[in-house]
Amino acid sequence: MKSFFKVIENIKLELFFLLIGLIFSLIILIIAVNLELSNPTVWNQVNYKLKVNDIINSDSIKHNTANMKMEKGKNNQNNYYIFYSDIYPKEVRVQLEKQNQISSHILRDRKSVSLSYIEDQELNSEISQRFITTIEYLWQEDKEEFSKAGEVKQFYNLFFTSSQISVELKDIIQDESQLMALHRTFQANILKKHSNPEEIIKDVLEMDPLSFQTKVNITPDSIKVMVDRKKFGFSYVSVTYKEISPHMNLIINKETQELNKKHNRKEVALTFDDGPSDATTIELLKTLRKEKIVATFFVLGENVESNPNIAKRIVLDGHEIANHSYSHPDFTTLSTDEIREEINETDKQIFLKTGRLPEIFRPPYGSVNKEVSRAVRLPIIQWDVDTEDWSLKNSEKILKNVIESIKDGSIILLHDIHKESVDSVPSIIDYLRKQDYEFVTVTDLLSNKQKPYHQYFNQYEMNEIK
Ligand code: NI
Repeated sequence: MKSFFKVIENIKLELFFLLIGLIFSLIILIIAVNLELSNPTVWNQVNYKLKVNDIINSDSIKHNTANMKMEKGKNNQNNYYIFYSDIYPKEVRVQLEKQNQISSHILRDRKSVSLSYIEDQELNSEISQRFITTIEYLWQEDKEEFSKAGEVKQFYNLFFTSSQISVELKDIIQDESQLMALHRTFQANILKKHSNPEEIIKDVLEMDPLSFQTKVNITPDSIKVMVDRKKFGFSYVSVTYKEISPHMNLIINKETQELNKKHNRKEVALTFDDGPSDATTIELLKTLRKEKIVATFFVLGENVESNPNIAKRIVLDGHEIANHSYSHPDFTTLSTDEIREEINETDKQIFLKTGRLPEIFRPPYGSVNKEVSRAVRLPIIQWDVDTEDWSLKNSEKILKNVIESIKDGSIILLHDIHKESVDSVPSIIDYLRKQDYEFVTVTDLLSNKQKPYHQYFNQYEMNEIK
């Protein structure tokens, strides 16, 4: 009997413990369920993940990332996704990561998602442009959904479509002479961009010429050249393909395709050397204005310095102003440094007095050799109609020389510092007009194709100075 009660007691005890255990479990379960139901973040998180998938699988993203694989990452609260394919060069992968890191940095402690992918676009049969797009979405805690925070489409590079190799400066510019032409436009554009160009003209003229190693950024419409921010106040200067199209070796956009426009008309260029003179140039300008004719003035730096208003008038009247040295020495007798000084000082005077940076140079006495042309770094303009006006000093004889040697595309040499030369101009204009010639500036006559290290005698005759 005793043992019976013992069994009962044991059962009671076990039941008791079982009951206690059941109650305890129930309490924990109730607490747990209560906690889950009362804490929305759990549901929120599930929802968040679903919404992230919605973004990644949305039609617009799928459309742009077809055939790319997705790589995931996390940066603080930011989940980021990079879409990438092995057909792209490795550095593109790095750039994708970089652009995404910039956006995650901005979004830093906010719950967000950013996606980066590559877009390619063909520019022509040879060349494509590549963009990296990053889209950012911010999580709206209260609405439990994402809102688009921003989209950045950044130009990455130009590349040859078939090889995927980036277009570089040496693909666009063929040789040193074209590089020097680019250098001149680059200098002019630094001056245009600067708010106080007079302050930096000396630095600009004395800067090292561009080389194929210079750091540049090739974009679909321009070459961006990096410059010293401390010196100029900006970090790059653009040279558009439109500005250098005659010197380009590669067709990138439409503007570079109009390389060989044909002139169907007879053209000549009147050129006047050694001025400006306060005794004779003003009279010449009057004649040209009256006849509505443009000419090219190869001026001396020292004369621009002493006759700044006439130099200004030349430019205001639409004529071309060009460099003819500072003091008219024979350049073949000078050192490279002396040549640079003659050129820079004249460029500086012309720029300060007229706001123009000359594009062409005529050597005193037409005297050049290879060393001179390399030191000058500007296209050399000679002539094919020598009026010998400076020795003849006779208007009729000057006209006679023009008549005897003029042809389509000629460059006529005159000097605006002699009265007889200036007096001969109305009769020269009259004669040439009757022969159906039109008057253009030298750079127009040459369709802006003139290159440093080369000399030009007329529209058709030129050579490299060797
Ligand atoms: Ni001269």
